[in-house]
Amino acid sequence: MIELKGVHKSFGNKQVLRGVDLTIRDGELLVILGRSGTGKSVLLKHIVGLMKPDKGSVIVEGEDVSHVHTAELYRIRRLIGFVFQNSALFDSMTVFENVALPLIERGGMSIDEVRQRVIDVLSLVEMEDAALLMPEELSGGMRKRVAIARALVAEPKYILYDEPTTGLDPIIADRINDLILALKRDVGVTSVVVTHDIHSALKIADRIVLLSDGRIAVEAPRDAVWDVQHEEFRQFLKVFRKLEDEC
Ligand SMILES: Nc1ncnc2c1ncn2[C@@H]1O[C@H](COP(=O)(O)OP(=O)(O)OP(=O)(O)O)[C@@H](O)[C@H]1O
Ligand SMILES: [Mg+2]
Repeated sequence: MIELKGVHKSFGNKQVLRGVDLTIRDGELLVILGRSGTGKSVLLKHIVGLMKPDKGSVIVEGEDVSHVHTAELYRIRRLIGFVFQNSALFDSMTVFENVALPLIERGGMSIDEVRQRVIDVLSLVEMEDAALLMPEELSGGMRKRVAIARALVAEPKYILYDEPTTGLDPIIADRINDLILALKRDVGVTSVVVTHDIHSALKIADRIVLLSDGRIAVEAPRDAVWDVQHEEFRQFLKVFRKLEDEC
């Protein structure tokens, strides 16, 4: 379980997180919805200890991420796969090498075991034929899938996706949605998806929360979203309805 309790974060005099309280339950697929610049990426970075709260705590499996020693932080990070907003692949490494890197850093596996595991996760995201390509040879959707493979390779308990469908055409975006769903269903990984894509949110979420004004303003199970009265949340739903009507 991951818990954020009263998390505050400012940059200079800009208050981004102003008391975020959120529990991520084991096995769920939680979508964090929010407009651009509301602090969604900042929130995710707190979970992996890339940022520390000014106030409040971030607890992963009972450990406060902002107060643990470096060795413990690395242990906690190994439980979490992170798919960065820009995919963040290493340009000078092949797809295979990018995906193998977390296993090599962790150590404890033979070369053959690493090779097999990398091939397995690349197959999972249907990218096994691209193993020897360089990131610059990939389309945006392919890069996302490689980033997902890299996040998955060390068998994390949690996977955090930062805007996994942004910037992709709707058909590829939908394939990424299907992949996120399949990984949750078949691999059982607890999944947190940050997005402003309401289509994606409604398709994949078990539960949706809205980050607004630095706080979790709405929390609703997927089945109950249409009953939510919060104005900004309803604007997201309106966008969804409008596009559905146009189809
Ligand atoms: N390292 C940093 N230093 C200073 N300001 C930062 C830093 N990281 C984020 N911010 C600021 O915090 C705010 C929230 O940024 P964040 O990237 O979390 O937004 P977001 O919700 O992920 O937006 P988007 O949907 O566009 O990705 C922005 O105003 C951003 O400029
Ligand atoms: Mg972001």
